[in-house]
Amino acid sequence: VIGGVDLAALSDRFLARFDVRPRVFQAPGRINIIGEHTDYCEGLAMPAAIDRRCIVAAAPNDLDALRIVALNTNKTARRDWRDLRPVGDWSDYVAGVWRELRLAGTPIAGADLMIDGDVPIGAGVSSSAALEVAVASALLAISGRSAESGAVARWCQSAENAFVGMPCGIMDQFASASGQAGCALLLDCRTVTANAIALPASAAFILVDSQARHALVSGEYAERRADCEAAAAALGVAALRDVDLDALRRGQSKLTPRQARRARHVVTEIERVRQAADALAREDLPGLGELMNRSHASLRDDMEVSVPEVDLLAEIAQETPGVHGARLMGGGFGGGIIALADAEAAPSALAAIQRACEARTGTSPPGFVCSAVGGAGEVAP
Ligand code: GLA
Repeated sequence: VIGGVDLAALSDRFLARFDVRPRVFQAPGRINIIGEHTDYCEGLAMPAAIDRRCIVAAAPNDLDALRIVALNTNKTARRDWRDLRPVGDWSDYVAGVWRELRLAGTPIAGADLMIDGDVPIGAGVSSSAALEVAVASALLAISGRSAESGAVARWCQSAENAFVGMPCGIMDQFASASGQAGCALLLDCRTVTANAIALPASAAFILVDSQARHALVSGEYAERRADCEAAAAALGVAALRDVDLDALRRGQSKLTPRQARRARHVVTEIERVRQAADALAREDLPGLGELMNRSHASLRDDMEVSVPEVDLLAEIAQETPGVHGARLMGGGFGGGIIALADAEAAPSALAAIQRACEARTGTSPPGFVCSAVGGAGEVAP
């Protein structure tokens, strides 16, 4: 059993449906400890792959089409190569990856795919990136190809940018493809390379989902990205990565007040990632927690991507005994928080956060304690 899926049963179902035994692949969801809205500015982030996985069973077909069965959502789709265009639903993630791989020369005419897993959808742990990376791993392998994990991440990001139409950065796909067990990744989004940083055994990460889902998420996200790119252009640099706080102050007059706030978030957040890497190396959990709290304030006030439900969760978590820090995680506009806790206190801290939230809002939000795992790969022959 992996990703909550009994692999033998999955293989039997695949055989019954498609008349052939599949190979089976997994790709994990991710957390991001710190470094939010920095990836598309070619900055630094600190994600880790987590023990929630998308599972894809796959076999080639000769139909020039994908036949897709999603067991986790109880949906099916068929996507034909000859009129392949976005249709605006979940199957675009799958079809977009297939298209990228074919355009890159992978000889994958068609495939049958069965999808399952336990990455919560819409909760901010990148279920879409896990789906993309699992599909890419499957399609590459069943066509006899292998690729370096950074290349897999880039194809998946391109699929999401060009086919799904979400202008995301590389962080989610990279973490899913390249995660390392027990480690966070200090990811440089300019070079698309990472150093693994061992997570201290004394630390645990808690995720709590606000369950707020705001409309226009991708529109708001695209606006933040456009603001950052416009700010970089006005400052005469390739990306906000190339600016420090002094340069930002000197160039302030070239920016609109809004661009200046966005830029200040990115510049200070990249610096916080550097400091967080040092704090982790020292096993300084209070220091790391404080940086996470400051990240939240910056995302709320300067990047303006938080919502009241998420602010409340972060505030509750920050005040909970055993928690060193907490912040909004992911793109924002709903979603959830990540909290750093002492490992032994984590289960009771999660329960305390849920109780406090229930007392304030009437509902107990879903959450879990996660651990860092390795990246995508084949799980069964
Ligand atoms: C979303 C995107 C990522 C990243 C985060 C914000 O998760 O998919 O590329 O930009 O938002 O850090």
